[in-house]
Amino acid sequence: MNILLTGGAGYIGSHTAVVLVEAAHRVVLLDNLSNSRQEVLSNLERITGENIPFVKGDVRDTTLVRQVLEQHDIHAVIHFAGLKAVGESVQAPMDYYANNVQGTISLLQAMEDCGVRRLIFSSSATVYGIPQYLPIDEAHPTHPTNPYGRNKRHIEEMLGDIAGSDRTWRIVSLRYFNPVGAHDSGLIGEMPRGIPNNLMPYIVDVATGNLSHLSVFGNDYDTIDGTGVRDYIHVMDLAEGHRSALDYLDTRAPTMSLFNLGTGNGFSVLRMVQAFEAASGKKIPYRFAPRRPGDVAACYAKADKAAIELGWKATRTLEEMCASAWNYRSPSTKTKTP
Ligand code: NAD
Ligand code: WQD
Repeated sequence: MNILLTGGAGYIGSHTAVVLVEAAHRVVLLDNLSNSRQEVLSNLERITGENIPFVKGDVRDTTLVRQVLEQHDIHAVIHFAGLKAVGESVQAPMDYYANNVQGTISLLQAMEDCGVRRLIFSSSATVYGIPQYLPIDEAHPTHPTNPYGRNKRHIEEMLGDIAGSDRTWRIVSLRYFNPVGAHDSGLIGEMPRGIPNNLMPYIVDVATGNLSHLSVFGNDYDTIDGTGVRDYIHVMDLAEGHRSALDYLDTRAPTMSLFNLGTGNGFSVLRMVQAFEAASGKKIPYRFAPRRPGDVAACYAKADKAAIELGWKATRTLEEMCASAWNYRSPSTKTKTP
């Protein structure tokens, strides 16, 4: 089937493109490259051996999206395109509403115009806000604590309204927990611009020597070792979750559904440091620092719904997550082969 991936040159979109091509789908990528690089495209072609159509453009350009849907005879869309930095969303909320909410409205308008009514949306565990219980299931109340999270919730509400208005829509919203790691080839992975906000890319920057040490935000949480606990999921497992969601859309999905994509396991910051050191052979110096405002002690998924209804489960280990993240960025991995 022909699948459009908005934001397809980004971290999760590029890994999903590989999985879908390997599953004999034809993918088309639409990305404005605001947070990704053109070289991802040639690397995707090296990995898959396929020439992957790429359109440089913005999802807010409804006319362009309509053209892409028609020209490529698109059957379903996976909507990754969006801005994703929580802190930045607090500083510049209008940019986030304009890009994320307006971008989704534009995409939905184009889809409606072209009669393409199959959509997978990249949502986030951040919609849940402060956990009221653990593990977090899909019925957990949603009280996001920042503009980025509220964008995701608004979009989910909008998608629910659209699905309710026309029963021919099939929409799946996937709430990702903490994606980390990279494709085994080392050709694609996570490469944030500037100093990383997230734990794994920060650790990798310490390992490469770009940063001197990790600041561990808080060591007095009520967790196994006092540091924050999260549900880290290998990006290739996450990518495979999209393949399962696509199958689901076409066979048995109701008009609108929501799924957590996580492993169901929580690991602390210190456990992550230890696992990364073991996988890379690099020492990661760290210092304890005050809690980061807005952080919660622990957040991990109940992943049963995706297992039962999508037939999908994360299978890769923490060691594989760390080894692949390091393989992607390690200076010694000079010759990367798909
Ligand atoms: P990413 O920044 O690597 O990828 C997003 C891509 O979208 C980028 O290539 C960017 O250039 C593109 N883009 C942004 N705005 C666009 C626009 N208006 N038009 C066209 N392209 C645009 O991020 P990612 O980690 O791959 O995240 C993908 C999606 O998953 C996002 O919606 C994000 O909010 C969501 N998500 C990510 C995480 C995470 O931790 N990485 C967790 C939960 C949810
Ligand atoms: C993980 C743990 C930190 C950096 C964020 C977004 C969420 C989602 C995923 C998009 C926490 C600790 C971190 C550092 C540290 N993204 N940490 N030192 O906060 O769970 O989730 O990314 O949807 O919306 O909020 O992930 O990787 O930032 O932090 O000690 O330099 O690592 O305190 O306990 P988080 P993270």
